[in-house]
Amino acid sequence: MRFLITAGPTREPIDPVRYLSNRSSGKMGYAIAEAALEAGHEVVLISGPIDVARPRGAAVIAVSTSDEMFAAVGQHSLRCDILVMCAAVADYKPAKVSKSKIKKRSENISLELIPTRDILASLPKDRQYLVVGFAAETENLQANARKKLREKNCDIVVANDVSRADSGMESDQNEVEILFRDGETKQIPRASKKIISRDLVRIFEKYFEKRLTKKTQ
Ligand code: C5P
Repeated sequence: MRFLITAGPTREPIDPVRYLSNRSSGKMGYAIAEAALEAGHEVVLISGPIDVARPRGAAVIAVSTSDEMFAAVGQHSLRCDILVMCAAVADYKPAKVSKSKIKKRSENISLELIPTRDILASLPKDRQYLVVGFAAETENLQANARKKLREKNCDIVVANDVSRADSGMESDQNEVEILFRDGETKQIPRASKKIISRDLVRIFEKYFEKRLTKKTQ
């Protein structure tokens, strides 16, 4: 199968030397890429700027802004079977980027932010590939993840609780709940991101095959 995986944060420029970003380490997306390669799949990895070694055997496309990630997903999703949107795409970006470095002054300044384009929500409805979204929540995990699945038209959402210090964003460990379009849910208890990724890849493969058999029946 052909996996297209996004990972890491995006950087939204404010001026030539400053940007808005988040704490995503990219570890989860990279671990899924490794697990998919290990299972013999083809992997294209669209990566935001992070400090993790490139998985051997993956085609890595380096991007920085949410607009670059949007364009890369649009281009590469045309030939993939499973799209895994693991990246922590910024939800907002500065309304305008200053061409020169903003000077320090003594008074307050404010920055106008506008929503970025939602990559998941803008994917075509009649696509052939499977779409997996991620939900990092600090409260009402299941309800928020279910809402995300519906609103962003995903086939699967992988949800994790980022309010815990021992799993989630920068950690090597995670604990996830998987929600499927048909209402089914699955849980993977706390484990390393490597172990979780192997389970996730198996789950994605199974769901993809199930969907394929349904279509050909
Ligand atoms: O709404 P929220 O940002 O929590 O949704 C997370 C999911 O949506 C992730 O799968 C992320 O990759 C995706 N996303 C996106 N485009 C955005 C923001 C998030 O595809 N602009």
